Amino acid sequence: MQLPSNIATRHLTAPEGLSEAAQTLAAGGLVAFPTETVYGLGADATNGEAVARIYAAKGRPSFNPLIAHVADLAAAEREGVFNAQARALAQAFWPGPLTLVVPVAATGAVSSLARAGLDSIGLRVPDHAVALALLKAVGKPVAAPSANRSGRVSPTRADHVAADLDGRVEAILDGGATSIGVESTIVSCLDETPRILRPGGVTRQAIEAVLGHALPAEESDGAVIAPGMLQSHYAPHCEVVLEAQQGAADAAILDFHGQLAHEPCVKRIDLSPKGDLLEAAARLFEALRRLDESGAARIIVAPIPKDGLGEAINDRLKRAAAPRDL
Ligand code: TXA
Ligand code: MG
Repeated sequence: MQLPSNIATRHLTAPEGLSEAAQTLAAGGLVAFPTETVYGLGADATNGEAVARIYAAKGRPSFNPLIAHVADLAAAEREGVFNAQARALAQAFWPGPLTLVVPVAATGAVSSLARAGLDSIGLRVPDHAVALALLKAVGKPVAAPSANRSGRVSPTRADHVAADLDGRVEAILDGGATSIGVESTIVSCLDETPRILRPGGVTRQAIEAVLGHALPAEESDGAVIAPGMLQSHYAPHCEVVLEAQQGAADAAILDFHGQLAHEPCVKRIDLSPKGDLLEAAARLFEALRRLDESGAARIIVAPIPKDGLGEAINDRLKRAAAPRDL
């Protein structure tokens, strides 16, 4: 499947277009679809290369973790571990505009790129007949950020989506105007006390009423309360060296297009031997983790092209190489 840039976008209408939309998602394509909050830009969350195409289509300069949309709580519990509070919130507000961030389940199938390499996952059951029918038909979690180009406002109608993403997605499924118009509330259930990471369609008061106690003060849009409490990206423990031309006997190599294939190393992973940036993005977080665990003194990274998805890959690697301010 090609990088989204000049695709003939199909304009589908629900309910007639539902099965074509589901088949397109199952085949690794991008489909924008309505939810009760805003339109989402969907891809099969279990397919790393399909997820990579979301970032390319949005023109996102970095990889943020994406929300995985599922049809019901049972599907959510295959992907994430729900403690009593998370389950109470899910039962009270799903389907609805609430995203729960929970630890990844051992049975989880969502790709590491969709999670930005994290051990946690954002899950949501949307309250929209078209979205639910689509999720049931696909039968897999669907990763979907808001269906706008990076830096633009979130779309509440199919023609807003088309203005931003025509030519960059396989299909837009029109299900009318969204009813809520603001994104879901994101609640982290990783610690003993749940925390609101982003205010949205479900109010703090409604959440506190279900939990039976007050929540800690709100943060602005996913900002970190204290370093290390909630990392927004997977960060390797070892030192990371970029733009390397040579290996070393005590180093691990993160290669691209076979550039460092004959260099000495403890372990080498090539993000894409054929030089494909989609494939490289899909494998990035998994590869970093495996090299980090290899026991090498540092990770040496081959030069990776800066165009297209290369921008986001290089951004992520630059953060991984930056000195830690902990
Ligand atoms: O209403 C909505 O939430 C819409 C519709 C399409 O569902 N989606 C949406 O997605 O607003 P997006 O990508 O624009 O925002 C997702 C937010 C990001 O700020 C991301 O950092 C956060 O969810 N998020 C996702 N998974 C996370 C995780 N494991 N840990 C922390 N934050 C997470
Ligand atoms: Mg957004």
